Amino acid sequence: MPHGHDHGHDHPQRALLPRLLDLDAEVHAHLLTEAVAAVADLADGAVPVRRVLDVGAGTGTGSVALAERFSTAEVVAVDVDEQMLQRVRERAASAGLADRVSTLLADVGSDTPDLGRADVAWSSMALHEAADPVRAFGNLLDALRPGGLLVVVEMDAPSMVLPRGLAGFEQRLRDAAGATPAHRPDWTAALASTGFDDVATRTLSIDHDLPADGPAGEYAALELRRIGHVAAPRLDEADRSALEDLVGDGPRSVRGLGDLWVRGTRTLWSARRPG
Ligand SMILES: C[S@@+](CC[C@H](N)C(=O)[O-])C[C@H]1O[C@@H](n2cnc3c(N)ncnc32)[C@H](O)[C@@H]1O
Repeated sequence: MPHGHDHGHDHPQRALLPRLLDLDAEVHAHLLTEAVAAVADLADGAVPVRRVLDVGAGTGTGSVALAERFSTAEVVAVDVDEQMLQRVRERAASAGLADRVSTLLADVGSDTPDLGRADVAWSSMALHEAADPVRAFGNLLDALRPGGLLVVVEMDAPSMVLPRGLAGFEQRLRDAAGATPAHRPDWTAALASTGFDDVATRTLSIDHDLPADGPAGEYAALELRRIGHVAAPRLDEADRSALEDLVGDGPRSVRGLGDLWVRGTRTLWSARRPG
């Protein structure tokens, strides 16, 4: 799964990102549901949610989930990548939400974009990519109405995907790629110093078995390829060859593993613009 520390030197992988984001949302569907439910819980019930920003929207899985949850709100998908925004428009249209989901091309981390006024700003797995996350938080603070809610989700590490018998191998792969919780961003201090109130975190977790011949298998193969691209030079010969088999099309490919064990955690930060 996309994570900040390996961007910049993974160009061939970048082309796979939209598909990986769609699969990520499918495989982690209950995390997205839980996170959107947290937004609904935390939003100030006294003020209707009329306008929501999805910052770093990617392919728009969050934008559509937010538009479905807040059934009268306008959702603005903000991204620095026009190709992603095109996908958001397509996703919104096929969900019948084109009238309430719009797109805005902007870099929230280095410019001072006009984001308009929002009741809720949401950002999932994006702000770690911003050139200047503190500036991004400042832009979001300015965009929120007084009392408005910011929710940010980041993965603690990419989810593990391989079955129990391969857990040791997968851990070596993650260690070699630096894709471990030690590398996760921690926005708590940055949010408080930007001027947000009520900064809090909660952990979202997933731990379940999914069939390898479905979307989870495709997700796992893309993930192993993405992480393996970084890890391979640091693996021994046996692990490198196991990795090649897993991401290949042969009998030892990840799709032939029966059930995959998908487990991981993400941190959700919530914060409020002072009223
Ligand atoms: C890993 S994807 C996550 C997409 C989506 N939020 C999700 O959870 O599936 C990160 C997205 O953030 C966008 N992004 C990164 N930095 C950004 C910035 N400074 N301003 C706006 N979008 C940004 C990227 O173009 C990409 O589409």
